[in-house]
Amino acid sequence: MPCPSGSDALVFFVNGRKVTERNADPEVTLCKMFPLATFPSSPRPPVGLTGTKYACGRGSCGACTVMVSKHDPVSKKIRHFSVTACLVPICSLYGAAVTTVEGIGSIKTRLHPVQERIAKSHGTQCGFCTPGMVMSMYALLRNHLHPSEKQLMEALRGNLCRCTGYRSILESGKTFCMMTDCHQKGTGKCCMDQRENHSSSLDRKSDICTELFAKEEFQPLDPTQELIFPPELLRMAENPEKGTLTFYGERVTWISPGTLQDLLELKAKHPEAPLVLGNTSLGPAMKSQGHFHPILLSPARISELSVVTKTSDGLTIGAACSLAQVKDILAESISELPEEKTQTYRALLKHLRTLAGQQIRNMASLGGHIISRHCYSDLNPILAVGNATLNLLSEEGTRQIPLNEHFLAGLASADLKPEEILESVYIPHSRKWEFVFAFRQAQCLQNALPDVNAGMRVLFKEGTDTIEDLSIAYGGVGTATVSAHKSCQQLLGRHWNELMLDEACRLVLDEVSLPGSAPGGKVEFKRTLVVSFLFKFYLKVLKELKTLVRQFSVPVSGSSRYPEISDGFLSALEDFPVTIPQGVQTYQKVDSHQPLRDPVGRPIMHLSGLKHATGEAIFCDDIPRVDKELFMALVTSTRAHAKIISIDFSEALELPEVVDVITAKDIPGTNGGEDDKLLAVDEVLCVGHVICAVVAETDIQAKQAIEKIKITYEDLEPVIFTIEDAIKHNSFLCPEKKLEQGNIKEAFEKVDQIVEGEVHVGGQEHFYMETQRVLVIPKTEDKELDIYVSTQDPAHVQKTVSSTLNIPINRITCHVKRVGGGFGGKVGRPSVFGAIAAVGAVKTGHPIRLVLDREDDMLITGGRHPLFGKYKVGFMNNGRIKALDIECYINGGCTLDHSELVTEFLILKLENAYKIRNLRFRGRACMTNLPSNTAFRGFGFPQGTLVTESCITAVAAKCGLPPEKIREKNMYKTVDKTIYKQAFSPETLIRCWNECLERSSFHSRRMQVEEFNKKNYWKKKGIAIIPMKFSVGFAATSFHQAAALVHIYTDGSVLVTHGGNELGQGIHTKMLQVASRELKVPMSYLHICETSTATVPNTIATAASVGADVNGRAVQNACQILLKRLEPIIKKNPEGTWENWIEAAFEQRISLSATGYFRGYKAFMDWEKGEGDPFPYYVYGVACSEVEIDCLTGAHKKTRTDIVMDACCSLNPAIDIGQIEGAFIQGMGLYTTEELQYSPEGVLYSRSSDEYKIPTITDVPEEFNVSLLPSSQTPLTIYSSKGLGESGMFLGSSVFFAIMDAVAAVRRERDAAEDFTVKSPATPEQVRMACADRFTEMIPRDDPKTFKPWSIPIA
Ligand SMILES: Cc1cc2nc3c(=O)[nH]c(=O)nc-3n(C[C@H](O)[C@H](O)[C@H](O)COP(=O)(O)OP(=O)(O)OC[C@H]3O[C@@H](n4cnc5c(N)ncnc54)[C@H](O)[C@@H]3O)c2cc1C
Ligand code: FES
Ligand code: FES
Repeated sequence: MPCPSGSDALVFFVNGRKVTERNADPEVTLCKMFPLATFPSSPRPPVGLTGTKYACGRGSCGACTVMVSKHDPVSKKIRHFSVTACLVPICSLYGAAVTTVEGIGSIKTRLHPVQERIAKSHGTQCGFCTPGMVMSMYALLRNHLHPSEKQLMEALRGNLCRCTGYRSILESGKTFCMMTDCHQKGTGKCCMDQRENHSSSLDRKSDICTELFAKEEFQPLDPTQELIFPPELLRMAENPEKGTLTFYGERVTWISPGTLQDLLELKAKHPEAPLVLGNTSLGPAMKSQGHFHPILLSPARISELSVVTKTSDGLTIGAACSLAQVKDILAESISELPEEKTQTYRALLKHLRTLAGQQIRNMASLGGHIISRHCYSDLNPILAVGNATLNLLSEEGTRQIPLNEHFLAGLASADLKPEEILESVYIPHSRKWEFVFAFRQAQCLQNALPDVNAGMRVLFKEGTDTIEDLSIAYGGVGTATVSAHKSCQQLLGRHWNELMLDEACRLVLDEVSLPGSAPGGKVEFKRTLVVSFLFKFYLKVLKELKTLVRQFSVPVSGSSRYPEISDGFLSALEDFPVTIPQGVQTYQKVDSHQPLRDPVGRPIMHLSGLKHATGEAIFCDDIPRVDKELFMALVTSTRAHAKIISIDFSEALELPEVVDVITAKDIPGTNGGEDDKLLAVDEVLCVGHVICAVVAETDIQAKQAIEKIKITYEDLEPVIFTIEDAIKHNSFLCPEKKLEQGNIKEAFEKVDQIVEGEVHVGGQEHFYMETQRVLVIPKTEDKELDIYVSTQDPAHVQKTVSSTLNIPINRITCHVKRVGGGFGGKVGRPSVFGAIAAVGAVKTGHPIRLVLDREDDMLITGGRHPLFGKYKVGFMNNGRIKALDIECYINGGCTLDHSELVTEFLILKLENAYKIRNLRFRGRACMTNLPSNTAFRGFGFPQGTLVTESCITAVAAKCGLPPEKIREKNMYKTVDKTIYKQAFSPETLIRCWNECLERSSFHSRRMQVEEFNKKNYWKKKGIAIIPMKFSVGFAATSFHQAAALVHIYTDGSVLVTHGGNELGQGIHTKMLQVASRELKVPMSYLHICETSTATVPNTIATAASVGADVNGRAVQNACQILLKRLEPIIKKNPEGTWENWIEAAFEQRISLSATGYFRGYKAFMDWEKGEGDPFPYYVYGVACSEVEIDCLTGAHKKTRTDIVMDACCSLNPAIDIGQIEGAFIQGMGLYTTEELQYSPEGVLYSRSSDEYKIPTITDVPEEFNVSLLPSSQTPLTIYSSKGLGESGMFLGSSVFFAIMDAVAAVRRERDAAEDFTVKSPATPEQVRMACADRFTEMIPRDDPKTFKPWSIPIA
């Protein structure tokens, strides 16, 4: 619909080209504008810029990062800064230059060094995050030609990657850095020497390599090549337009005044209209909470709001200054002023270092931050205790109000009047004898909203320890920042000693009370943090006081002596610093006789690496809009179990651009399975169950129409969410799976000791960066459909669409160019979305695009099964386990999906690396009213084996032995049979174990950890080494078959197609390595276009780690067939070239196309007998991790991880090491930070990257070494390689067990029981509450019967 006329022209530049937009819509963000190239009124519209990716829409993943350059009216300089395009309204860009990934380089012209290096350093896998990473690095380099490694970390902190594990990305960035950040600086050693330090005896052999790329080949960074700031914009900035600019959208008007006076007049005229600065608070609220503002006022052109003034008593910072600028301003003041004056500034700076990512800090303003008054605000508690004042402006004049508890509570008398704006903030200097500190605890150390934070200030009577003034404010414990004003008043005049501390804790707990049902949950944890922070404050101040007394030899009144801080307690004071990960990757070089042309075994870059880095790699939603295309949005259930009484979509259909609503009645064929309908018919089984779909002209309209659909329900019983309830109701999806060996009853009678325990493992969201998406294009003839879909299993999509539409499979072609991460989440679900979109396409006759928002994707698709495990283990006093009985329940959700298979795999893999004669494993999948859980990397192994490993830890605790001794004692040692009677040799497992012990210097570090723990009371270290026997493949032969189609064209170029899908795991790269070796032509002759059901039919899902194995065999077969056909020609003309031979073959009518086929590895399982050969082979690996925990906050730091993995002869060590690292970090997320939160009504709360924390770059272990075990062979697989897609996931548990080791040390020291219930993830909450102390004891505990909790545990 055309926008109302009268809008001003919006002028900005994109990649050096001018955009003049005459109908700018204030609701459109930069991110949404790029791909569709909707610059309709621009004279030279830039065409679809699809490089900038959309993944969360809330500024928290960084996939959409671009660089904005603006002229700063105050400094008169050009500022270049990274932003997240999804939160940038296009109207805010007046006079700005935007640089996207396409603007800095291209494979068609010239690559930017950042692009070249990230690709060549193997920093891309699926490539969906890569443009964002590139742009964050690029913006950094525009400001710092030789950044420090710290700056690099800071620049990348706001960018998430779900595939790589970040190490390789960081490695590429480090090539631009000055080597000044060596954290061993001053020790005479350097981290760059690590390659020598960590080389084991094996590495000293010349066949071991530690380089995955050649730095010396990189082109240098030449700043003269960068785009300049457009002279036209500079002219505009020097003669600024003083008039008001107005942009009218369909629903929203954007007004940007040119002068302060105009702004004040406008604010008086539109008192309800918010001021948009960074849009980082308004934007997410408009997107997710339905906030709507018909008028938005933009003060972007008012320079008066960005002025900074330094006076003798404080700093006044303009409200429009970005948080990044505030950070610089504070750092400058701290460097200029004496320490005593900068206490508040230091506290603010500390929190500014952890607050959000660089992009958000570049966008968010100080004023917006303060006025938003988020309960979690990191700055408001400090500003409040630091006595900051707000300078307000209105047409009436100026006014000052204190930023105090009344303002923060939003009391009208203490707040801005509607017509007022915030001009600036005055932050006074601190004084001598005054101390200000800030505290914060979040799910992870960086880039996560805090659970609780605090600002605390104390002023002493000069020369004494008597409290003259005290202010304490907390965030995260109420609906706004909360002040402990009354408590502080009562403590005035008290001495700074333990008596005061006890009293303070009691008072504060009373005043800052948090009800048991408080939103956000974690109530007892938060209460504990409230007092733990107070204790930290007490200690920090005590330390400062002591220094001050020493420094000035001031006589102290009131108390003759300050309480001593023992060395063990000092450890409470320090936060974990951000460190720059270092590490070494080792692998075996190829045989020196292997021809240079043969790429197998070499670290070849991902085929699409460069295209990922330039944004030229096309993902499903990057396909340009096709003629008459419509958008689809899904309507989902808001009830967990209910009958659908009626659906009224009349109001939705009345909306002008809404075309249709698709319901189950529109399905011409089958509506999914009996118990798993594509679209709900009469009954919904979970919140998020898809009921119907709206089809409209645009995605915005489709989403708006959803709100108009009225569904009435009648709730049904029972409603089951938890495993406990499912067991009670006997609610299961499939029969029990059981394996047994030996005689456990007898064995339990003969053992020295028996331990029983429980383990709870939470679920996991796939969080692939590219959400589920599909484009269905109906053809005009013969009911044909072309489907472009992001899936791991296009044949399944094809089959489902066929049965849904009731048309033969041969009319449907599914295309998969590449997938932006799958991890199992795109095995089953894409067929549902493909089928619903196909129904829409057939009904309307239009192409349909369906792209799930992150929130919907997380709500609808399910993930890893949460697990509850019970174990009983019998063992001898020396640690030998004689009997083990494990019973596992997984939460399958409302439909079967893969739950039966997951249960089977879980049971089959439960023994892990241990030989235990008497075993019984039982598993059941519970049916609950939650979205159906599905396949996820590792397929049950990562959850189940955590139970087994927890048994080991429990046995160790009982025997008084370290867990590694129990592991070693019980590990398979010789050729043996598994519980299901499959024979195998554990030789490489043992080699990995010994190699990992050696590489990690495990035994000496175990001693160092113990030493550290003796000296530190509030910080503890833990170390764990975990072995792994991971079975690869599907437990059925038919699932291992694969096919390939190879064409040789007359110019000698070769097109390879196979049944595997490129998910980022580099399968296409590996396939071309195989084809290159077989055909003996360089990889440059070879090409893979896409995976398509038209070229290779009846494919199997790319999953279970065997994609490259089985498809590699098929490609090999096809190439060998072709080569055989060429043999006579080659023999006849041995000196000829490849091209000569192909030409001759064509002349001689030899077919240059061949199908290759692999019939599959033999695999079967007889569940009746409990016997079989279900897996083709095992991958062995061992990981050792060390962590340090903060007992007062529950935070942890990963000090070091060493992984040794048996990849046999890796097809591509760079790709395989990337898989191991990526899976390890994903596993670490599963076991430490990724926590799904459900309401008591079964609604998933954690539906965004703000609420669900996957690891960020700052979570990578400080030292991270990975080595592939050398000299290992397997006769079964192609070129003796092993599939490594999933196995690394479980090795992440080494971090979990290291944390448990540290917690056990705490509990030992405090005489608490060591056999506490193990819960994964080991979040700060779990860790803090397990480290019981006087603070956990003093908090009030609620009787669970007296309140309704905010969330429920479902495992
Ligand atoms: C991904 C992400 C991560 C984050 N992480 C953290 C974190 O870890 N810790 C934390 O504390 N915060 C965090 N935040 C919140 C962030 O600090 C705030 O969103 C931000 O500071 C708001 O500033 P803004 O300029 O974007 O405000 P906007 O969204 O532009 O405006 C917010 C509000 O402020 C009002 N306003 C703005 N300026 C003025 C003025 N001069 N006078 C009167 N009213 C005004 C507006 O009317 C509006 O109501 C995060 C935000 C995001 C998106
Ligand atoms: S899509 Fe913009 S930050 Fe995630
Ligand atoms: S490569 Fe980073 S998300 Fe896939």
